[in-house]
Amino acid sequence: MTTDILIRGGTVISESGRQRADLLCHEGRIAAVERDLEAPAGASVIDAGGCFVMPGGIDPHTHMQLPMMGTVVADDFFTGTAAGAAGGTTTILDFVGPDKGQSPLDALAAWREKAAKASIDYGFHMTVSWWGEGFAAEMPALVHDHGVTSFKFFLAYKGGLMLPDEEILAGFLRCRDLGALPQVHAENGELIAHLQRKLRAEGVRAPAGHPLSRPSQCEGEATLRAITMAELLKMPLYVVHVSAAEAAEAIQKAQARGVGVIGETLPGFLAIDASVYENPDFDIAAGHVMSPPYRPDGHPQALWKAVEAGTLSITGTDHCCFTRAQKRLGEDDFTKIPNGCGGVEDRMNILWALGVEGGHISPERFVALTSANAAKTFNLWPRKGTLSIGADADIAILDPAKSKTISASTQHQNTDFSVWEGRRLKGSVVHTVAGGRHLWADGDLRAEAGGGRYLPRAPFGSVYENLRE
Ligand code: URP
Ligand code: ZN
Ligand code: ZN
Ligand code: ZN
Repeated sequence: MTTDILIRGGTVISESGRQRADLLCHEGRIAAVERDLEAPAGASVIDAGGCFVMPGGIDPHTHMQLPMMGTVVADDFFTGTAAGAAGGTTTILDFVGPDKGQSPLDALAAWREKAAKASIDYGFHMTVSWWGEGFAAEMPALVHDHGVTSFKFFLAYKGGLMLPDEEILAGFLRCRDLGALPQVHAENGELIAHLQRKLRAEGVRAPAGHPLSRPSQCEGEATLRAITMAELLKMPLYVVHVSAAEAAEAIQKAQARGVGVIGETLPGFLAIDASVYENPDFDIAAGHVMSPPYRPDGHPQALWKAVEAGTLSITGTDHCCFTRAQKRLGEDDFTKIPNGCGGVEDRMNILWALGVEGGHISPERFVALTSANAAKTFNLWPRKGTLSIGADADIAILDPAKSKTISASTQHQNTDFSVWEGRRLKGSVVHTVAGGRHLWADGDLRAEAGGGRYLPRAPFGSVYENLRE
């Protein structure tokens, strides 16, 4: 049982409008949204005067406790979800990563065990890390018995997660039969492997080699290739972590043709450019190594236009935190730097400051980009992504007047690095309520291990509307 919470005096924002209203949370759900509500006996009251009251963030792209490139990411399901709560995020969708040949059901069981200590609600996508009869045979159980209804395919990481087109096609078809949503990491893995070899042969070892080995054309090509498959197979497609103007353009054109392709981007790709890889301090350059990489100037501006136009409709973080020491695994070879950056704690604050304060998007569009669209796409709506009666009491309260400076020294993410180091932001999440529990109260983080619940999801969500033959 949770204590009732009355949120008083704020402006309640949805993806489609706003109203001055109080909001009552009862037994973990939204019980009333009205003006001048009375606090029930025993209720705790949060003063939201001057603040925006919004659905808690859904981060549809995280990697907690993931073994990767000879190490394990620094945030586990407790520290990572607690950090998320400190930034207004109340739900994550994380990726289960089977080993090559491992049963995806076994991998899911292992991930369920790891995630039991999450402090906010969580669901899973499945990484299609290998393909074969055995994988395909377990997909119906993943979808129907366990609610794992999205599958990520890699067009990059040759020799690792990359699958040939033939297998991606087979996997897409299997998804279509089951009403599951295929996701793609869209970079041309063959070209990247070639460029990595070439750069190393030329003696390039430093992090600056990372973006040179993965130019934006690789992402544009692979995005169009994946879209072409989905288009001809008449099925939806979700493109994760769009970083390149060419990819955004391919998505925009496909959407104009009526293809059900959804584009996700990350706040970092809207604000950080490839000059970070030129930093002479290895820790700083390597701290930004992720795939796809931050792009040259011009791409972030193009991505903002795509966000404004609705082409890119969802933001995630690809939260995949490593410490400076972990990144040093690639001190002598940029291809060995563990790929990934943090951000689950910062997404809402950054997107508000850069997007709303920066004049790109309205508060309503902010809600669409941080929760409502992900809830609809991943079939969590209307339990998540809205503050309507009966929805989960997952709430972020943002004070637009409160400033904040991001620093690794004060963050809750379990690492000593931040790509946002020193950024001063206008507007900040001051309270987070998740499942009716007040987890973040004006700088006081009260996240508890095990407070989150697993979110099974149903297949044939809205992404399949108009697509069934
Ligand atoms: O560099 C990244 N993005 N690491 C996480 C894995 C992925 O490809 O999303
Ligand atoms: Zn009550
Ligand atoms: Zn990826
Ligand atoms: Zn990722």
